[in-house]
Parts: sequence; C-alpha cells; structure tokens
Amino acid sequence: MQAFLKGATAQSTKPQKDKATAGPSTEKKAKAVPWVEKYRPKCVDEVAFQEEVVAVLKKSLEGADLPNLLFYGPPGTGKTSTILAAARELFGPELYRQRVLELNASDERGIQVVREKVKNFAQLTVAGTRPDGKPCPPFKIIILDEADSMTAPAQAALRRTMEKESRTTRFCLICNYISRIIEPLTSRCSKFRFKPLANQIQEERLLDICEKENLKYTKEGITALVRVSEGDLRKAITFLQSAARLNVDKEITEHAIIEIAGVRLGRIMMDMIDNLLNICFRGTFEKLEVAVKNVVDEGYAATQILSQLHEAIIEQDLSDKQKSAITEKMAVVDKCLTDGADEYLQMLSLCSVIMQQASQNN
Ligand SMILES: Nc1ncnc2c1ncn2[C@@H]1O[C@H](COP(=O)(O)OP(=O)(O)OP(=O)(O)O)[C@@H](O)[C@H]1O
Ligand SMILES: [Mg+2]
Repeated sequence: MQAFLKGATAQSTKPQKDKATAGPSTEKKAKAVPWVEKYRPKCVDEVAFQEEVVAVLKKSLEGADLPNLLFYGPPGTGKTSTILAAARELFGPELYRQRVLELNASDERGIQVVREKVKNFAQLTVAGTRPDGKPCPPFKIIILDEADSMTAPAQAALRRTMEKESRTTRFCLICNYISRIIEPLTSRCSKFRFKPLANQIQEERLLDICEKENLKYTKEGITALVRVSEGDLRKAITFLQSAARLNVDKEITEHAIIEIAGVRLGRIMMDMIDNLLNICFRGTFEKLEVAVKNVVDEGYAATQILSQLHEAIIEQDLSDKQKSAITEKMAVVDKCLTDGADEYLQMLSLCSVIMQQASQNN
C-alpha cells in the first residue's frame, strides 16, 4: 500500500513540477493556456445548464452524503469539469491529492489496475476533518473518466469493490456512451445525463470570454459559432480561440468561424442539397454519381450533408413509408460514417435509396 501511495503522489505532483521548472517563461506559458482550460468552471456553481447534478453536488457540499455517480452525455458538456470542481470544493487543495484518485483513458485501466490501484485506494480509511480542524466529508472519491473505454472484465472487477468500500469511497464514472457501461455498474450509481448546452447558455459563455479576452465580434459570428458547435461548449471555445488567433484584428465574424469550422452553412449549402435532391428525384444514376462526387470533393463533411439531407427529406412531398425507408437508411449511414466508412460510398448508397424511393409512386 505504501508503494502505491508513493506512486499516486508522484503522479499527481508531476504537473506542478513542470510548472515550477518552467521558470522565467511562465508568463508566456500562462498566455498559451488553451481557453477551454482557462475558462473551465472552478466551482460547482459555475457549471451551466446541468441543474440536476449541480443540485445534488451542492447538497453534498453542505454536508449531505454523496451517492456513487455516473455522468454520461455528449462531449464538451461539463462532465469532467463538474466532478473536478466538486472534488476541489469538497476537500480543498491540501486534501485533494489524498482523497481523490483520478484515472482516465490515458491511464492503464485493465483489470490489474482495478484490482490493485483502485482497490488499495478504496481501502484507505479517512477522517471526517481536515488537518486544520475544519470538517470535510468522511469519504474519498475515485473518478473514472472515460469509463466507456474500460474493458468489461475491468468494469466487472469494480462491482464488489464498489459495494464493499461504500463506507469510505464514492465512485464517479464518466462516459459518453452509457450503453458501454455494464448494467451492474449503472445500477449501483445515480445517473445524470449531461445535456448538450442550450444556444442561449453557450452564447452567454462565449460573450463572457470575448469580453475577458478583449475580442471584437459580430452577432452573426457568435451565432455561427453556437450553430457549428451543436451544444459542445468545448468545441465552441476552441473555435473561438482559433478564430481570435487567426485574425490579426481579433474580430470574430461569421466568415472567420465558417472558415475554421470547415462547414459551410446557409445558402450555398442549401443550394447544393437542393441540387442533389433534384437529381435524386429526376436525374439518372450516372448524374447522381457525379453530383455526389462533386459534393464530397468540395470538402463538405459527410455528417453535415447527412443532417441537412435529413432536414430536407422531412419537408419533401413523399409518403410516410418512403420517408421512413429513407431515414432508416440515414441511420445506417450515420453509424457507418461514425465507424469510419468511406464518405463517397456512403453518400452514394444513401442517395440511391432516395432515388429508388422517389421513383416508387405510392
Ligand atoms: N456546463 C458547462 N458549464 C461551463 N462550462 C462548460 C460546461 N460544459 C463545458 N464547458 C466548457 O467546456 C470545456 C470542456 O468541458 P469538460 O471537459 O467538462 O467536458 P466533458 O463533458 O468532460 O467532455 P468529454 O466527454 O469530451 O470528456 C470546459 O473547460 C468548459 O470551459
Ligand atoms: Mg471529460
């Protein structure tokens, strides 16, 4: 156990050491901090839009017990930030290292590690007071970030540990896909779904950052930023920083955002979608092949085309049966694209289904 403790502290002090050795260039370094880190919520109160989990965590900050937690939801919605902020508030900076074990996908997390590292950490007993006499929660927290990348045997090995050490340890599992967490673990945790951030909330955050960083912006620029990031605040902030870096006068315009995001929105895109559908409805397969190739060669992201085609198909004058056949194919194509399939072939196969459906008069 002693060896483990040494291991754990050595690991967690590393970043500090780096900072200390950075020496005279620290000022430069401070500027180079990515904005996602700079503007990561420092306390639970700063977490926007995830009211349920914030309410539970605030109760435990006031002294109530904390359940085992499972956070899931799309990227950039505040999962990691929330638990880190809560842990920091619960234990304060001195105790943090003793009381919190943070493991993410970059750490080895096979069954061996669960058996040794996690179990050993969970078995340590803890006091209900800080060294300075202030009360603090009588438990430790083990954060398993990106838990969906843990192997099933490793997850299974957690089950008993989670129960046995429930007196002194709380677990917080974080993942994007809850379906990849084995059932026995999900049933041991309070589940919280992190929602994609609402446009309004993202806008507020972005404007706040613009102000703090002295950026000039147009309203359309911010709207475009919110639109391309689809509820992922991390993506929005990263795009914002790239746009600020690229433009000398630091103005955030719609044009700059679209350039960076690599997605073209608005009219050009709609024209292209209309053209594609036109060919599906009235053209020949040869024409379709050329049109799809052009679209893909233009550099439009296939997932973007897919979501716009989806919107367009719903509006089309087709029967419900035709629409459902097409949208079912869209779901399959979406999955294939996520798995890394060829964009051209997937788009072509989708468009040919649209063509086939449109040619059936029912
Ligand atoms: N709800 C939120 N409130 C405030 N800031 C947020 C929120 N969600 C995301 N952010 C911003 O986005 C950045 C990334 O958030 P975080 O790392 O917590 O995302 P995540 O949900 O853990 O994503 P992933 O699933 O990719 O790990 C944070 O540094 C913060 O600036
Ligand atoms: Mg995370």
